[in-house]
Amino acid sequence: MKLAASLVTLAVLATSTVGQTVPPFGQCGGVGYTGGTSCQTGYICQKLNDWYSQCVTPATPIPIPTLPTATSTVSPVTPTTVPVANGFVKASGTRFVLDGQKYTVVGSNSYWVGLSGHSRDNMNRAFADIAAAGGTTVRTWGFNEVTSASGIYYQSWNGKTPTVNTGATGLQNFDQVIAAAKANNIKLIVALTNNWADYGGMDVYVRQIVGANAPHDGFYTDESVKTAFKNYIRTFVGRYANETGIFGWELANEPRCRGSTANTSGRCTPATITAWAKEISAFIKSIDPNHLVALGDEGFYNQPGAPTYPYQGGEGIDFDVNLEISTLDFGTVHMYPEHWGQTGSEINWGNQWIRDHAKSQDRVRKPVILEEYGVTTNKPAVYTQWLKTIEESGLAGDLYWQAGSRLPTGNTHDDGYTVYPDQPAYSLLRTHASALKSRA
Ligand SMILES: *[C@@H]1O[C@H](CO)[C@@H](O)[C@H](O)[C@H]1NC(C)=O
Ligand SMILES: *[C@@H]1O[C@H](CO)[C@@H](O)[C@H](O)[C@H]1NC(C)=O
Repeated sequence: MKLAASLVTLAVLATSTVGQTVPPFGQCGGVGYTGGTSCQTGYICQKLNDWYSQCVTPATPIPIPTLPTATSTVSPVTPTTVPVANGFVKASGTRFVLDGQKYTVVGSNSYWVGLSGHSRDNMNRAFADIAAAGGTTVRTWGFNEVTSASGIYYQSWNGKTPTVNTGATGLQNFDQVIAAAKANNIKLIVALTNNWADYGGMDVYVRQIVGANAPHDGFYTDESVKTAFKNYIRTFVGRYANETGIFGWELANEPRCRGSTANTSGRCTPATITAWAKEISAFIKSIDPNHLVALGDEGFYNQPGAPTYPYQGGEGIDFDVNLEISTLDFGTVHMYPEHWGQTGSEINWGNQWIRDHAKSQDRVRKPVILEEYGVTTNKPAVYTQWLKTIEESGLAGDLYWQAGSRLPTGNTHDDGYTVYPDQPAYSLLRTHASALKSRA
């Protein structure tokens, strides 16, 4: 019943895209693909594998994947382009590649690294700890919206007018974050705004532009708000378009219909956020064709009537439909069973959540990463099981929430999920990183 309903939705979406021009770096062909096949002027439709062709410029060959085609009886694709070493990670089937080699996404989140006024030495220490555990990738915040300037902030608002802070307490500070990451061979996943009120996020845009009590979901629909967000993206993403220290961009941290306050318009559905995700991701690709783009959502399914809340669609996310968006290159999933009504069944519920997203990944043929996960109790026991399930399920990768560091200036923030390098759960992360790297 649920499956049938979502297939109908997909069929309608697919039909409506036939004949449309595919935006740069969007999908333009592949087994089971029914969308548009002609690329915008200046782009050609290049076959990446049997399941995926992509609109690229003739001058930027894409790495040919060397992935197993175990489930296929189709003969292997003959390489037609030589991979170029340009330093940008690309998606290839359900995996990532960098300069023709497999790139394993494993590491942690460090939202605070560019927002706490840390010295370059502290930033370096935080990345060095993660790198020493085998981490390749760190997710962090590329936003802080303020209405009165203090500390590190990336955009300040005066009434309806935002100004990006390009100075030493703004983007020049983010330059330091990138440099510290690169010095440790780490690439950054950068979220561009927040569903939640922490560091301002969506609600600052809505409050400043639409009005003090305006509904949260106006962020996805109000034209002036979308324009303001695009202006921020033009400056922030544009500055780093050629930066190899960036892995990719995320539209938002955990977009939902509801934010930190209860007000919504009552009209927000999964289709609202899907439409917004299409528009904003295509905009990012137009500013920066080099980097991967993802939604940054929690991976909620839209299966009304499903037994547990994260599958029921109530928060305005339809993971399977969003994963099909041609300008989103990989899928994201979070996992907090204790917050999601699954206390007592963390291990089993989490294992199923991982396996279900691995199935979505394999069906859509795009990498999916568990980019935030955690429990506050029994960490070693729970993580042992979850990490094993990630390794076996084939999910593309994961980022722990969150690896802490013991800095000379004190320990990094412990929100109950933090694990420091000298604690038992941290060594699980080390073992897991090498297991993922040696996996096909
Ligand atoms: C929600 O909207 C109502 C009516 O406009 C308003 O009185 C209330 O303050 C709003 N709540 C928040 C948290 O903005
Ligand atoms: C990135 O590289 C392109 C092509 O060389 C160039 O046109 C563009 O100005 C560069 N952007 C930045 C921000 O350096």
